[in-house]
Amino acid sequence: MIDTSILKSITPEHKELFGKVPLQLSHSLPSSPLFSMDALAELIERYPREHYSLVHMGEKGSARKTWREGNIGGLSGKQVIDWIENGRMWLNLRNVKTVDDRYQSLLDKIFREMGTSLPDSPTFNQGLGILISSPNAQVYYHADLPGQSLWQILGKKRVYVYPNTAPFVTGEQLENIALFNLETDMRYENWYDEHARIFDLEAGQMLHWPLNAPHRVENFDCLNVSMTIEYWSDEIRRSQMVNVANGLIRHKLGIAPKSRALKGVNFAGKAIFQKMFKNSKWLKKERAARRPVDFMLDGQNLGQIVNL
Ligand SMILES: [Fe+2]
Repeated sequence: MIDTSILKSITPEHKELFGKVPLQLSHSLPSSPLFSMDALAELIERYPREHYSLVHMGEKGSARKTWREGNIGGLSGKQVIDWIENGRMWLNLRNVKTVDDRYQSLLDKIFREMGTSLPDSPTFNQGLGILISSPNAQVYYHADLPGQSLWQILGKKRVYVYPNTAPFVTGEQLENIALFNLETDMRYENWYDEHARIFDLEAGQMLHWPLNAPHRVENFDCLNVSMTIEYWSDEIRRSQMVNVANGLIRHKLGIAPKSRALKGVNFAGKAIFQKMFKNSKWLKKERAARRPVDFMLDGQNLGQIVNL
């Protein structure tokens, strides 16, 4: 019988450990036609601007704060990939499932498999992103709010996963991510690495880690194509409501929040409070001010950017 499953070699230990510690598993996606170079080039060409991020970044080990966001400009999909292979860039096609139904079907299949083979709580609002990134590029130390996994399709990267507790990640940091999308403004110290789990992720391997566990990534000297999957569960959604409410209490009311409880009277009050403000004009303005788009790719000079 032909094995059409995406996740491979799940063992009884994986079932016990899933969500509690970082787990590296095998998968079959490198052979999927959805991830051929032609398919990716074609996808890039028709990708709506509002659904991608193009980020120019520092080299492995370089100083931080060199993270800038820009536009693809008039390049073809193939040119964009060539550009990335020759530059230091990170293209994130976010929300791929809303742009192309085939990836929605893939996502559904993955969660069906995870639902039967791994004991995670029921999930919703699953998302799928495709990351195409340059040789030696890095993604700085950060944490994500939804449940996450990273699937390597092409190339190789080293992933450092840190404990999801202080000092590696704090409630205030999670609030800032929830309010302002400031994932990469997190404090990072070199000695954190002594407490990280380190994984070399090759094509056909995926990594899943506990909720909010900070991580950073260094590409090896090759073009990298990866897929990110995110998801929400009832518990993750509650935790997000607390992040937003506590952030608003801190930034708008000037009070340091004390509780991160996910139920009870205190939580119920926060649930209402955050709902009133989470789509406010104030918040949108604050967010935009913190992340301007300021360059586009140079079509004439491979590896160069044009300032906007
Ligand atoms: Fe991440």
